[in-house]
Amino acid sequence: MTALQVAILTVSDRSARGEREDASGPALRAFAQARGWEIVAQAIVPDEIPAIQNALIHWADALACDVILTTGGTGFARRDVTPEATLSVVERPAPGLAEAMRAASLKITPHAMLSRAAAGIRGRTLIVNLPGSPKAAVENLEVIAPVLPHAVQLLREDPAAEAGHGEV
Ligand code: MTE
Repeated sequence: MTALQVAILTVSDRSARGEREDASGPALRAFAQARGWEIVAQAIVPDEIPAIQNALIHWADALACDVILTTGGTGFARRDVTPEATLSVVERPAPGLAEAMRAASLKITPHAMLSRAAAGIRGRTLIVNLPGSPKAAVENLEVIAPVLPHAVQLLREDPAAEAGHGEV
């Protein structure tokens, strides 16, 4: 199958204002590229629902990339609204991905319970929320990375998807 086309959205007021360097977007980019995935878009937006929605809608509809990874804004702070923005634009939720990430992360830190991350499908694009710190974002992506190629095969309606059911 051709390389996964991945877009990365950092959701952070401070990084969007240029007050804090974005470490999570580059960490996710490095992880993805090490796996041979292609980064087709990357941006930073503030913790505002319309800004998050715009990026997700544009990348899913105009770019039709395979996967959008968001980082940040999944916690309990008043401005953490990434899951709400995500769920407002997906057509079909994919809760298993977030459940798996929380279950695995609970073995690392009880703070995993504080992640409200969501995941879902818009068109043929899978959108997945990851936490905001570079360490947490990569730890969570490591959990779902083995199943993403098969998820994308299914979304692309690739005839070879049938053969991938048994593998990770
Ligand atoms: N998951 C893993 N694997 N490792 C972590 O360090 N941090 C947690 C959680 N998930 C963490 C994690 C913390 S402290 C919070 S508050 C939530 O993710 C949400 O993070 P966010 O608000 O930065 O999006």
